[in-house]
Amino acid sequence: MKVPYLDLKAQYETIRGEIGDAIQQVLDRTAFAGGQFVAQFEKEFAAYCGTQSAVGVGSGTDALWMALLGLGIGPGDEVVTVPDTFIATAEAISWCGAKPVFVDVDPVTYNMDPSKLEAAITPKTRAIIPVHLFGQMADMDPILEIARKRKLFVIEDASQAHGAEYKGRKAGAIGDAGCFSFYPGKNLGAYGEAGAVVTNNEELDKKMRMLRDHGQAKKYYHSLIGWNARMDGIQGAVLSVKLKHLDAWTEARRKNAKRYDELLRNVPGVNVPVEAPYAKHVYHIYAIRVADRDRLIAALAEKDIHCGIHYPIPLHLLDAYKALGLGKGSFPVTERVASEFVSLPMFPELTIDQIRFVAEGLNRLVAV
Ligand SMILES: Cc1ncc(COP(=O)(O)O)c(C=O)c1O
Repeated sequence: MKVPYLDLKAQYETIRGEIGDAIQQVLDRTAFAGGQFVAQFEKEFAAYCGTQSAVGVGSGTDALWMALLGLGIGPGDEVVTVPDTFIATAEAISWCGAKPVFVDVDPVTYNMDPSKLEAAITPKTRAIIPVHLFGQMADMDPILEIARKRKLFVIEDASQAHGAEYKGRKAGAIGDAGCFSFYPGKNLGAYGEAGAVVTNNEELDKKMRMLRDHGQAKKYYHSLIGWNARMDGIQGAVLSVKLKHLDAWTEARRKNAKRYDELLRNVPGVNVPVEAPYAKHVYHIYAIRVADRDRLIAALAEKDIHCGIHYPIPLHLLDAYKALGLGKGSFPVTERVASEFVSLPMFPELTIDQIRFVAEGLNRLVAV
């Protein structure tokens, strides 16, 4: 039995008709760059997240960049985030001219450890970016408390956490801005590149709308030096169709995660993910931790079970961030978990038989 890491085709088959109709409408109206389909999705996504607005952009990386620029972050500033994330979180900080400063993660949730946050804050710090890794939100209350005390912005990197909750509040709606990626493999994935920033800050909303469109509010009247970070119309239409299904897909992911939990919890040497008491986890990624993970991944691949690693190298140890001068041992929790993570196949359409097959394979291999 083949178990792919992700099966986008299986999901597409369930919505083929709706998607075809939606794309045809965009073609009929030639609303390709920005336009009514993006505006419609923005309205629906803001309502879903419980925010005043959503600004559609070209990718999750654009979302982070536009949010930071919109809040006025620039050269000489520092922005605190985690080293246990995808590089885009730090890239957006760097492309504002600011410096990323890292805080280690909690060993249970793999998210920003609030007890280590204050030590990373300096007079140059302007913002904090907690990342809701794998689909579980960071512990936001203590982070917000520190941010308020120090007058810092909080930008949530919710790229992996569409519909996730913290004490009943949705990802993206808690900080000054919430940034989402709609990369095709995400829980809410476009059929191309796309992203969005949600916010309750009217001024920020206005500024980001200009920044994403060459700094103009009126055509050819450029009042800011902006960029082209617009969402395209086809992505807006596709995302409107898929948003209607998101909650059902999330429930399917949660059910799949529960099945994995039950089958793997008592396997010696396997650490299953933990859902924090404050959280609704949406399992974008179901990451277990094991020793000797490279051997395990190779052996599973031989059985046609395909896993991923998110992420093998912490940001501070990447060549791209060598100039920060942070060597091995700087963030021990991040470094340990990064060497042990294995992302098991996870998508809503995964079958019980596939989950059992993965669990049996793992059970046998870990016991060797
Ligand atoms: C945590 C995180 N931040 C940012 C991004 C960047 O999103 P995109 O690939 O849409 O630019 C991603 C997606 O890969 C991500 O997982």
